[in-house]
Amino acid sequence: MSHSTSTHASRFPDANGYYGDFGGNHWPPHLGPVLEELTAAYEELRSSPDFWHELDKARAGLQGRPTPVHHLENISDQVGGARIHVKREDLNHTGAHKINHCVGFALLARKMGKRKLIAETGAGQHGVALASAAARFGLECEVHMGAVDVDKVNTNVSLMRLLGARVVPVASGQSTLKEAGDSALQAYTEQHAHALYAIGSAIGPHPFPMIVRDFQSVVGHEARAQFLSITGGTLPDHVVACVAGGSNAIGVYSGFLDDPEVALHAVEPLGRSGQPGQHAATLTFGRPGILHGARSVVLQEDDGGPASVMSIASGLAYPGVGPEMAMLRESGRLSIDTVSDEEAVTTFLRVARSEGIIPALESSHALAFAIRLAGDRPPTERILVNLSGRGDKDVDFVLARRDGGGPLRG
Ligand SMILES: Cc1ncc(COP(=O)(O)O)c(C=O)c1O
Repeated sequence: MSHSTSTHASRFPDANGYYGDFGGNHWPPHLGPVLEELTAAYEELRSSPDFWHELDKARAGLQGRPTPVHHLENISDQVGGARIHVKREDLNHTGAHKINHCVGFALLARKMGKRKLIAETGAGQHGVALASAAARFGLECEVHMGAVDVDKVNTNVSLMRLLGARVVPVASGQSTLKEAGDSALQAYTEQHAHALYAIGSAIGPHPFPMIVRDFQSVVGHEARAQFLSITGGTLPDHVVACVAGGSNAIGVYSGFLDDPEVALHAVEPLGRSGQPGQHAATLTFGRPGILHGARSVVLQEDDGGPASVMSIASGLAYPGVGPEMAMLRESGRLSIDTVSDEEAVTTFLRVARSEGIIPALESSHALAFAIRLAGDRPPTERILVNLSGRGDKDVDFVLARRDGGGPLRG
């Protein structure tokens, strides 16, 4: 499917890279020319049908797009309420939606004459996807990863190395996603002459949130057409996605932002509890601030610094969120809910055993909320969930938690 723009996407961001009050470029001024070069190169390619055609071709062969929309019949029957459908982004090559923008960045880097991709990663999904895209397009790849995450998702570290990427462990602060992001930004600052920063989510200074949204919008545009075809012309009543930076969410929402009758739900990690430092629910508890070069909503300590965060899903443990998501919160277009670690793990096991699908712990948050929502809504309604990734990376961790005296029994 080639790139199609919605009314929403043509209105935002504005000429200064803002989504309402959020976004912009809050990087050090000397990086202005770097971002201007990127914006100009991307704007030119964005209007070229050939670019999107080439991207579609790469996605079909390397990624396995389009991914299907699938009805979770067993769980829908068990719940007895609204019917739950999933967009199977877990079926992407490398196992998650992240490769949608990684392949885009790799093609963009090639067109710009860059020879290297730099990024941070949390759960490792973005890093593996980027390493794969870099290999396909003959580019070097450098992935920054918190030391805590390196230990937790060892298989993804091996995969990145196997695919030829250099993994840079970052041991500072909490040694997770935020620190990895700081370190990757620093590396880009030093290497921008020959490298492109393939940011891990729809975050960062303009034009990164726009580029990631555009590359991820394939999810929503495909899902909309597939849903209309499955239902004979009816849109979903609800679209649900988990949120860290917001790339899978804005991707699936992109197909429905111009349809006010479709409710958009953002699901955030409540972690161990809603207490400060125990969760990563930025849209729920955050306030306006600046993080990673953009004005957005940020979980902050009293002194304004980014707060400590926690989630059983490494890919959700981030104290910020993309500026477009912040705008959607502000405008009231989004419903925002939370799911705890425990509910996510219970859902992980339930979806595996009831449907034969092992969802990522990140995606299990979205699925857990969708199951709750389905119970409150009539069988005539339909819920579409972005099943953002597969859970192979989480299996050992979940089984150890279940068997090792945690409160969960599967
Ligand atoms: C499978 C999966 N889903 C969701 C996320 C959250 O990121 P985002 O909010 O950018 O979609 C991640 C991040 O690593 C992930 O790996």
